[in-house]
Amino acid sequence: MRRERATTRPSGGPSVTALPTAVAVRSRSRDTVDGDVAGAVGQELEEVLRARVGQAASIDPTFTRDVAERVAHFTLHGGKRLRSQFLWWGLRACGGGSEGQTRSALRIAAGLELIQTCALVHDDVMDGSPLRRGRPAVHTDLATQYGPVRAGEGDVSFGAAGAVLVGDLALVWADDTVAETELDTATRLRVREVWRAMRTEMVAGQYLDLHGQATAVRSVSRAVRAARLKTAMYTVERPLALGAALAGADGPTVRALRSAGRCAGIAFQLRDDLLGLFGDPEVTGKPSGDDIRSGKPTYLVAVALARAEATGDQRCRALLEGALGDGDLSEDDLTRIRAALVATGARDLVTAEINRLVARGHRCLNAISMEPRVLRRLGALLRGVTTPPAAPVEHDQRHAPPVSHGLADATPRSDR
Ligand code: IPE
Ligand code: IPE
Ligand code: MG
Ligand code: MG
Repeated sequence: MRRERATTRPSGGPSVTALPTAVAVRSRSRDTVDGDVAGAVGQELEEVLRARVGQAASIDPTFTRDVAERVAHFTLHGGKRLRSQFLWWGLRACGGGSEGQTRSALRIAAGLELIQTCALVHDDVMDGSPLRRGRPAVHTDLATQYGPVRAGEGDVSFGAAGAVLVGDLALVWADDTVAETELDTATRLRVREVWRAMRTEMVAGQYLDLHGQATAVRSVSRAVRAARLKTAMYTVERPLALGAALAGADGPTVRALRSAGRCAGIAFQLRDDLLGLFGDPEVTGKPSGDDIRSGKPTYLVAVALARAEATGDQRCRALLEGALGDGDLSEDDLTRIRAALVATGARDLVTAEINRLVARGHRCLNAISMEPRVLRRLGALLRGVTTPPAAPVEHDQRHAPPVSHGLADATPRSDR
């Protein structure tokens, strides 16, 4: 039976419409944004989301409370704002930062964070993950609000179906936000090209991930391709390219930035795969072992299987093959899997690859002529994406600094 709890806020958080209106429409200087990119984007998001939720309110109160406010709450209360930071420092690396560019950069960064909301909300439905950013995932939250009801006659739960719509709305708002950003015609065309490519790549990457799960294709090259498409492009490479597009950077600069971004972005996903099994859910804000339970074709697993095959380690191979996709794995089973990943050398190999990629990313950055201060900030950000988080990820928390580290060729081949 459906239960409606009209007063329940998404994950118990405040309503976006209750935010002080005084923060509305402020202008931020380049130096202010340099000092706190995540904070400036957080303020921009408040403005954007207040307006969007206000428009939703004129449509329907239930939609506003359950869907629109969930998008706002999820986006405002969590996340490291990595994509925004890459966009900003990409702009700055290309010499940008005028008043108009700063205003547009913050708006487009807000759009990127909404894309991230869509990606994460949908990803948790597809992966059946109950936890995100240290709180119940959106589909879990909706299921708690209304109980374990079905959306229709089939297998889809109301929580999952509702979360699909929450993600869709985030995507729509992201596109609207970017489309409404004031830009001159040439800049608009450059931005539109990057934005268009980025969204399609992300969908392709997520599909390759699902396809690998369904078909049990777990090759190393497929794993790298999926990591590049599902994560590296929209997290690092394309945000940097958006910054460069706003600044009107020349071709060699754009290519060097994108190469650096691709290396760091793949390294980021490889680190995420390691954290997904060896990390502490209290710290990562995500469950541990889900990649194995769902049979995800990660690089880590592909390397372990390749190593077991190369060394004739049938026991380890059988253990991994048997565990992948087994949703009922116990903690003890996961402990055995972790031991096998260490014993095959896969964990060390992935860590070495992360180090190699980060070093390569730095070499690409060093080829660009930019202010030393900007290079330091971008370099730290690049190293930071492969640093395991030190605490649960809370809103507007800036990314932790360094630890250096580096697969196959991560250099962009034209615009593939
Ligand atoms: C998580 O990205 C999803 C991946 C692409 C691995 P982030 O680690 O940037 O997530 P938030 O936005 O900070 O929560
Ligand atoms: C979501 O984060 C990844 C994307 C939205 C691309 P996760 O940490 O759950 O990553 P996966 O699902 O293991 O790729
Ligand atoms: Mg996924
Ligand atoms: Mg996931």
